[in-house]
Amino acid sequence: MSGSERAAGRPRLRQVDADTVAVEWQGPDGRDGVLVDARCPHRGGLLRHAHVNAAATRLVCPLHHSAFDLTDDGTQTSGPACRALRVRPLPQ
Ligand code: FES
Repeated sequence: MSGSERAAGRPRLRQVDADTVAVEWQGPDGRDGVLVDARCPHRGGLLRHAHVNAAATRLVCPLHHSAFDLTDDGTQTSGPACRALRVRPLPQ
């Protein structure tokens, strides 16, 4: 899904369980989204408080502002060095 397609709905974050946060938005065909780890791979920032850009392509940790690409397996794009964020499809 492209960034412009994701921009169809404003992303919101929802704690699913202790280990998982859902990033959800309204796509052209209804609800869409991804699941990510609940804690940042840098130093464990709580990602339910993260910022997600309007196109839902990038998630930024609230603690030290590491950014992760939600469209590319959670690759870190900026911020203090750490591993990628685990990103997986939202179950339908
Ligand atoms: S804990 Fe997320 S960037 Fe440091």
